[in-house]
Amino acid sequence: MKFAVIGNPIAHSLSPEIHLAFAAQVGLEITYDRILSAPSDFHSTAQDFFTAHGIGLNVTAPFKQDAFKFATENDSASKAAGAVNTIHATDGVYLGYNTDGIGLVADLTRLGWPLQQAKILVIGAGGAAQGIVLPLLNQGAELFLANRTRARAEALKEQFPKIEVLGLEQLSRGWDIVINATAAGWQQQQLPVPSETFEDARCYDLVYQRDSRTPFIQQIESYAGDTSDGLGMLVEQAAEAFRIWHDVKPQTNSVLNALRNPKRQFISGAECPRCGNQDTIYVERDLLGTATLRACHACNYSEDMEGNVSVELQK
Ligand code: ATR
Repeated sequence: MKFAVIGNPIAHSLSPEIHLAFAAQVGLEITYDRILSAPSDFHSTAQDFFTAHGIGLNVTAPFKQDAFKFATENDSASKAAGAVNTIHATDGVYLGYNTDGIGLVADLTRLGWPLQQAKILVIGAGGAAQGIVLPLLNQGAELFLANRTRARAEALKEQFPKIEVLGLEQLSRGWDIVINATAAGWQQQQLPVPSETFEDARCYDLVYQRDSRTPFIQQIESYAGDTSDGLGMLVEQAAEAFRIWHDVKPQTNSVLNALRNPKRQFISGAECPRCGNQDTIYVERDLLGTATLRACHACNYSEDMEGNVSVELQK
């Protein structure tokens, strides 16, 4: 059974690791690859995958809107989001789903952050924000949206009249949950939002960074009541895609824990090429046991398995 994730870039996607770990958990034999598509080639690349007997495709940036158009039929979540992150080829049709919202709600629930009647501020009004509005409203949350370009937030209000639109610079305190759905961090930019907005709020970033805190979390953590990046959402949206394809819901906690705390195997007698210490070099393995990184416990030396050295990476 053939599965894949398609995106651009795609090299660092954790989806193969996660889906193969789920498959091992329930005793299924699958293949799950990463497919890099040129920005204008989504349709033909996806079509080739299914022609070659692919069953399911996960879709990530920048192709979720293309995938929505590609699908023959779309579920209600993907219609609300205008985007598809999961395609299931079945009986000659392509069913399009969006499991991001379910993934977010499942992760917020796992964190113990109540949603019913919660005052939630979503910062951002792009594709990522659009995908989470309906699932949060469906949980009984009071939803407010603030975006740098106010007109985009107003356009989302036309689609979801229950949300309230606020100006970014005029934001102030009083939120139960603040969700960052902007791409500011990707561009190494700070959010132009008053710090008090985050005071005592539970702050969630839709993106994740495995080796360090995301730029958003770094910006707000001294004010926030609690913080989380989106790694749990990634695992939960994958679990829902897995359920759609295989009709069985996998366990997510063990997979999330393993991603957060990769296995380290120390190499006895090895000497660190940077600090010279002995017995401090370890190999890090992914969920499937494949070595992904060699690093030193005593200094910040690390290299990937192709020998590319990164001394910035703090271990
Ligand atoms: P995505 O699909 O990831 O949501 P997108 O549709 O390009 O990507 O949307 C990016 C979001 O990040 C938008 O809300 C954008 O604000 P604008 O609508 O004003 O462009 C927001 N964003 C990007 N860089 C930002 C920055 N430096 N400060 C604030 N918001 C930013």
